[in-house]
Amino acid sequence: MSTDFAALRRRFPLLEQKTYLNSGSYCALAESVRDAINAYMDDRLAVGANWDVWINKNESVRALMARVLGVTADEIAVTASASAGINALASAFDYTGPRDKIVVSDFEFPTSAQIWHAQERRGARVVHVPRAADGYIPLEHFERLIDERTGLVAVTHVCFRNGARLDIPGIVRLAHAKGARVLLDTYQAVGALAVDARSLDVDFMVGGMLKYLLGTAGIGFLYVRQSLIEGLVPTNSGWFAQQDISAMDITANRPSASARRFEAGTPPVVNCYAAEAGLKIILEADPVQIETRVRTLTRRCMERLREIGWPAVTPSDDARRGPMVAVPSRDAAGLFGRLMQQSIVTSFRDDNIRATCHFYNTDEDIDRLVSALAAHRPRFGPEG
Ligand SMILES: Cc1ncc(COP(=O)(O)O)c(C=O)c1O
Repeated sequence: MSTDFAALRRRFPLLEQKTYLNSGSYCALAESVRDAINAYMDDRLAVGANWDVWINKNESVRALMARVLGVTADEIAVTASASAGINALASAFDYTGPRDKIVVSDFEFPTSAQIWHAQERRGARVVHVPRAADGYIPLEHFERLIDERTGLVAVTHVCFRNGARLDIPGIVRLAHAKGARVLLDTYQAVGALAVDARSLDVDFMVGGMLKYLLGTAGIGFLYVRQSLIEGLVPTNSGWFAQQDISAMDITANRPSASARRFEAGTPPVVNCYAAEAGLKIILEADPVQIETRVRTLTRRCMERLREIGWPAVTPSDDARRGPMVAVPSRDAAGLFGRLMQQSIVTSFRDDNIRATCHFYNTDEDIDRLVSALAAHRPRFGPEG
C-alpha cells in the first residue's frame, strides 16, 4: 500500500508556517509527539509514581527501534545520546592487544572521532581516512588504512557537513576481510533512509531520535550484533546495565546478557514517550517508501540547483547521497539568516547551507528554496 504522505504532513503544524528543510538538525514536531510528552506530564501530575509505565515505555522504544533496523530488541541499547552509546561501546574494547588501531573517516561528526581519540590514553591508535580531491572518500582510501591491526572502523553513514553518503557495504567488506569490526553512525540517515542492519552487515550502529526519527533530544540507541554482546563488557555501566535491575546487589557487576549492558542509569523517560510516538510514525509511513520519496526530493533539489548555476557540494549520484543537499556560500551564516527571514529553515556548517529533506517535505518546498537561492545569489553565491 502506498503511503499517503500529504495526510502525514498535516500532522506537523509547523509545516503550515515554514518551509522546513532542517530535519538533519532536528525534526518538525508531530502532534502525536507533543501529545506523548503531554501524557508524561499529565501522568506525573495525576499519578506521581508510575515506574512500570516508565519501564514499559523504555522497552517499547527498544522494540520499535529494533523493528526500524530489522534486528531483535535484545540487540538494542536505549541510550541518552548517540555519544553515550559510542562511549559505552568504546569502554568495552581492549586497546592493549594486537588490534589497537581505530580507523575513522574524515566525514565523522565530531563526537565519533573525539571519543575514539579519548581512547588514546588507553592505548588506541586513531587514524583518519582522508577525502579525495573531489571531496568524497573513495573505497581505495579505506583499503589503504584498514589492516590486520585494525580493531574497529568507525564511519558515518551520511556526512553532516556535505551530505555525502559513504559506500557502507564496500567498507564493511574491506573491514571484515581484515577481521575488523564496523561501527556505523547512522544519525544523519536512519528515519530518512531505510537502514537494515542485517543487509548492511555492520557490527554496531548508533543514532538518535532528534532528527529523522521524529522524536526529541536526549535519547539515542546503540545496536550491537547478537554474537558480539557476550564478549564485550563495558566499564561504562550502571544499574540499568545489570542482568537483574531489581537485584540491587552492590557486591558485583553482572552485565545483562542483552545489549542493555551498554545502558547506565534511569532511562530518559520523558524522551522515551516522544521517541515512541516518533518511531510509530516512521513505521507507519514505511522506511522504504520514505527513502524513495526523500531521494526524489533531493534529486529535484540537485537538478534545480544546476539549472540556476549553483552546484551543490553533495554528490549528484543518488547512491552517494542521503537526505541532505549542501550548497557552498561565501557567507553561509548570512544566507541562513536571509532564508530564515523568508521562513525557509535550513542550517549551516562550514561554508555550506544544508537543506535536509524528510517525507513531509514537498516539491514546492524545494522550489521555494531554490528560487530564494537564485534571488540571493549576487550577494551570497559561492563565487567570492
Ligand atoms: C552524524 C551524527 N552523529 C552524532 C551526533 C551526536 O549525537 P548526540 O548529541 O546524541 O551524541 C550527531 C548530532 O548532530 C550527528 O549528526
